[in-house]
Amino acid sequence: MNRPISVGVLGLGSIAQIQHLPNLARMESRFRVAAVADISPRLTQRIADRLAGEVFASTDWREVCAHPEVEAVLVLTSGAHEQISQGALEAGKHVFAEKPLCLTVEGAERLHALATEKGLVLQVGYMKLHEELLPDLEEGLNTIGDLRLIRHSVYHPEHSTCLGPSDTLRFDDIDPQAPAEAAAFEERRTRQALGDLPPQWGWLYREVLAASFIHTVSFIRGVMGGIPRLTGADLWPPLPTGSPTEPPSFMARAEFPGHPRVEMSWLWLPATPAYREVFEAHGTRGSLEFRFPNPYFGRTATLVVKSADAAVCHPPGIESAFTRELKVFHRAITAGLSSSDAAGAAQDTAFLQDMVATLTRREGLAVGGEAETRR
Ligand SMILES: NC(=O)c1ccc[n+]([C@@H]2O[C@H](COP(=O)([O-])OP(=O)(O)OC[C@H]3O[C@@H](n4cnc5c(N)ncnc54)[C@H](O)[C@@H]3O)[C@@H](O)[C@H]2O)c1
Repeated sequence: MNRPISVGVLGLGSIAQIQHLPNLARMESRFRVAAVADISPRLTQRIADRLAGEVFASTDWREVCAHPEVEAVLVLTSGAHEQISQGALEAGKHVFAEKPLCLTVEGAERLHALATEKGLVLQVGYMKLHEELLPDLEEGLNTIGDLRLIRHSVYHPEHSTCLGPSDTLRFDDIDPQAPAEAAAFEERRTRQALGDLPPQWGWLYREVLAASFIHTVSFIRGVMGGIPRLTGADLWPPLPTGSPTEPPSFMARAEFPGHPRVEMSWLWLPATPAYREVFEAHGTRGSLEFRFPNPYFGRTATLVVKSADAAVCHPPGIESAFTRELKVFHRAITAGLSSSDAAGAAQDTAFLQDMVATLTRREGLAVGGEAETRR
C-alpha cells in the first residue's frame, strides 16, 4: 500500500543530510518527516526549518519516540544504535537504524526478540545489500562454476575525501553531557563484548570494525547466505598504545563449508584519491567483480561477470541503494510485516569479536566477555 508514513529522524549529521533526508524528501508518497532530533539545538532547528510542513523538533530523541504522529524512526546518531532503537521499539515505533546496531551479540539478539514480540519492523542500514544489481550478482554466482575464492577489498581514504565537496551543517553548541554518557555506555558494551583489553583494541572494535568493516561482513553474509568461519586475521602497522588517531590496515581469512575461501581486506590509505570497494568471486568456470560506489555519492554498484560461456558487463543501476533500502522499510511497514535484521546483525557482531580475539592472541592478550564465552 502506497501511503505516506510519518517518520522521526534522530541524528541529523552527515549521513542524514547527504543521504537520508534528501531521499525521504524525494519519496513524498511514501514518507513524511514529522519530527527531528539532534543533541545540537541549532542543527535541529535549522533542519526542521528546511523541511516541508509542520515538523516537531527536539534535542531529546525520547520526545520524538513519544510523539503520537510518529509511526517509525530513522536512527542516524553517531556510534552504535542499541539504546535509541530499544527505546523506539518500546514506544511502539518501527525502526530503521544505521549500522552498527549493537556492540554486543546479546544486545542485537535482545532487540531482535523485542521487535518480534511487538510485531515491529527493525531494519539495519546495510544498504549494500539493497544494490539494484544484487539479483544479477546472485545469478552470476551460479554461472561461474564451483566457487574457489571470495575476495572483498576496501581501499579507504581519509574521511574528508569520502565526503567529497558536500556542504553539511554542523554547530558547536552540544551539551557535552550527552556525548559523554553515550561514550560511557559504549565503553561498558565494549567491555561486555571483549572483556578488559587495552583501550586501543576497544577503539578498533568500535570505530573501525563495527563502524566500517561490518559492511563487508554483512554483505558476504547476505550474498552467500551465511557467515564464513574465521581462520585468520592480521593487522598492520601495529596499533599504538593509548588513543590511536588513524586506523591500521587489516585482513581476515575465512572459509565456507564445501571449500570456498574468503579473503577480506580493509586498507587505510589516507591520501589515496578516491574510495574504492570491490567484491570478487572466482569459480572453476569464471569470475565476477562487483564494484561499490562511494557511499556518500548516491551512485550504484557495477557488475562484470566473465564465465566460460559469456562476458557480461551489466549497466549500472538507476536507483541508489540508500533509496532502495528505505523503500524496503516502507514496504515492510505498510505490508504489516514483522521483519528484523537484528539476528543477522548479531552474527556480524560475533564475527567481529572473533577477529579481535584472533588479533589480540597474536599480541599475547586474551579477550574476555562475549568473545571468550562464545568460544
Ligand atoms: N550506511 C553507510 O554507509 C553509512 C555511512 C556513514 C555513516 N553511517 C552511520 O550513520 C551514523 C551517523 O554517521 P554520520 O557520519 O552522520 O555521523 P555525524 O557525526 O556526522 O552525525 C551524527 C549526528 O548525531 C547526533 N547525535 C549524537 N548523539 C545523539 C543523540 N543521543 N540524540 C540525537 N542526536 C545525536 C550528532 O549531534 C550528529 O549531528 C553512524 O552510526 C554511522 O556508522 C552509515
